[in-house]
Amino acid sequence: MEIREPEIKQADLLILSDGNFNPDNICIVTGAASGIGRATAVAAAANNLMTVGLDVDEEGGRETAAMAAELGGRISFIKTDLSKDKEIERAVSESARMGTIKYLANIAGIQHIDSVENFPMEKYDLMERLMLRAPFFLSKLVIPYMRKSEGGLGVIGNMASVHAHISTLNKPVYNITKFGLRALTQRGPARVSTHRSSVRPRRRNLKEALQWDGDQPHAS
Ligand SMILES: NC(=O)c1ccc[n+]([C@@H]2O[C@H](COP(=O)([O-])OP(=O)(O)OC[C@H]3O[C@@H](n4cnc5c(N)ncnc54)[C@H](O)[C@@H]3O)[C@@H](O)[C@H]2O)c1
Repeated sequence: MEIREPEIKQADLLILSDGNFNPDNICIVTGAASGIGRATAVAAAANNLMTVGLDVDEEGGRETAAMAAELGGRISFIKTDLSKDKEIERAVSESARMGTIKYLANIAGIQHIDSVENFPMEKYDLMERLMLRAPFFLSKLVIPYMRKSEGGLGVIGNMASVHAHISTLNKPVYNITKFGLRALTQRGPARVSTHRSSVRPRRRNLKEALQWDGDQPHAS
């Protein structure tokens, strides 16, 4: 059976009225060349944010940028291997030159299915760097820009999974990274709010998103 990514149509996009959704503000989206990252990047761009897509897959990244352009939005794609600190640093400084970094969506992720005793350690290291260290490092790098922005606020969304809540057979490292990402998400740094991510669009503007005060995430 062939499984294909669904087409993103204008009618599928939730367009929100929010003063912060303007082209001077930057939304960085990882994993933007495919799947959920692609859909998030296209939706952010269609909501008038200057969107920066990061991914190792250059061709997919270019396709995502073209999809956004067709829907009237702008995505600047920066080829980035998120397992490499230097590439992450470069991507953030290039993004900061394009406007004010206000949003970060950490979405890139991979899967590897194996028992603990058979799990290749190089795969463990890659998954940890991509799915835990990169979201942490990106957060560390963008929070100072958010603090300096108008109102000193920003939003960080982390793509978790049901595997952030329950452990399943032969996905030990996926579980470890997703549980860890949930831990990162649930700690609320002062003034810059992080909140849980969801595949579903959130009917919330920036002001509402920031009404979370740390240890008690919204129930939605
Ligand atoms: N698909 C699902 O059912 C599902 C469910 C729950 C959570 N998730 C999570 O959602 C996220 C996206 O999943 P998806 O299904 O859209 O996956 P996908 O495979 O379509 O997209 C993942 C993207 O990450 C990129 N990537 C991989 N390694 C990278 C690296 N080193 N540097 C930069 N980019 C890299 C890939 O090129 C790809 O574009 C993942 O974190 C996944 O764990 C997915």
